[in-house]
Amino acid sequence: DDDPSSSPSTTADPAQSLFARAARGERTSRPPVWFMRQAGRSLPEYRRLREGVPMLESCTRPDMVTEITLQPVRRYGVDAAIFYSDIVVPLRAVGVDVDVKPGVGPVVAHPIRTGADLDQLRPLEPDDVPYIDEAVRALVGELGPIPLIGFAGAPFTLASYLVEGGPSKHHEATKALMHSHPDVWHELLSRVAAISAAFLDVQVRAGASAVQLFDSWAGALSAADYAKFVLPHSATVLDSVLDVPRIHFGVGTSEFLPLMASAGADVVGVDWRLPLDEAALRVPGKPLQGNLDPAILGADRPVVEREVDRILAEGRRAPAHIFNLGHGVLPGTDPDVLARVVEQVQAVGASEAAG
Ligand code: CP3
Repeated sequence: DDDPSSSPSTTADPAQSLFARAARGERTSRPPVWFMRQAGRSLPEYRRLREGVPMLESCTRPDMVTEITLQPVRRYGVDAAIFYSDIVVPLRAVGVDVDVKPGVGPVVAHPIRTGADLDQLRPLEPDDVPYIDEAVRALVGELGPIPLIGFAGAPFTLASYLVEGGPSKHHEATKALMHSHPDVWHELLSRVAAISAAFLDVQVRAGASAVQLFDSWAGALSAADYAKFVLPHSATVLDSVLDVPRIHFGVGTSEFLPLMASAGADVVGVDWRLPLDEAALRVPGKPLQGNLDPAILGADRPVVEREVDRILAEGRRAPAHIFNLGHGVLPGTDPDVLARVVEQVQAVGASEAAG
């Protein structure tokens, strides 16, 4: 087979993959590349497979989860797979009446506004999600050397859906609860943190090589409120993870990137608002992941190429860089554009190895 020293991503053990080595902070010959939301509606093969099956039901069917997770790996040759599921899957598994509405996002039937509403949130047991264990095991077998990234929603982002009852622009009910009833708030976040930690644990025990905690809406908060009301709970989740690298990602969190790091991240995810060289100064010593603006993928080809080159250059200022977008792939993205981005990033290693 290939010589592992010249071709690190073909090493049989996913823990020795280019992605895993970068996540542990090793400077690799080129950045590994994968995309948040690489599976999903931008892929025609996904839309075909999902026809007639509701999103959250598809997440309980290991055959579908396996196939959908593998689709972008086959199409793009990315350096890591991200487990196909959703941040609300563990909430539904403990009995929360939540659904994902197409074009909208998670919608919760009985929003949490008082201490009594917390009864909806019991702890997650592994037996609540047998399909997650089964799908991860099947995927790890299929993926061989390619690492599988498990994930969970961070306590704040999940709490926002639970309190607002659905997607929210201003998170006003969430902030009102946080500030007016801090006791209820902290109990809510403790329960959600325990559920997210248990959801990650199932994935890691089944063989996931890394995990990412998604705090997509944390950027709605000030640094002070993040530190006081959120960070301790995200830290509980990240501290609970056994022996695999932990990526901590938020959108709009540039102003408190060091707090995101100190919550217990091995890798800090950066959105497109902050150049990676500047991020490297804010969280010295941390591997970074990011940060191509997903909306720019629709621009002319030379623009995308220049952006990728800029990010590759700025990423060299970090101890290690995992190439990704600054947030998830948008549904209207042309898959061929993502294929070219992968080619461009993976060519860095090729030219350096050749030269
Ligand atoms: O490729 C991957 O990244 C894997 C799977 C994944 C999904 N959701 C599948 C999905 C991951 C990692 C998530 C996480 C998730 N879900 C987050 C955090 C990441 C982020 O984007 O910030 C959030 C906030 C959610 C909540 C959620 N679920 C939203 C906002 C939506 C989109 C709603 C819509 O239709 O616009 C979902 C649904 C969802 N999750 C889809 C997919 C592929 C689309 C469902 C469909 O096919 O209709």
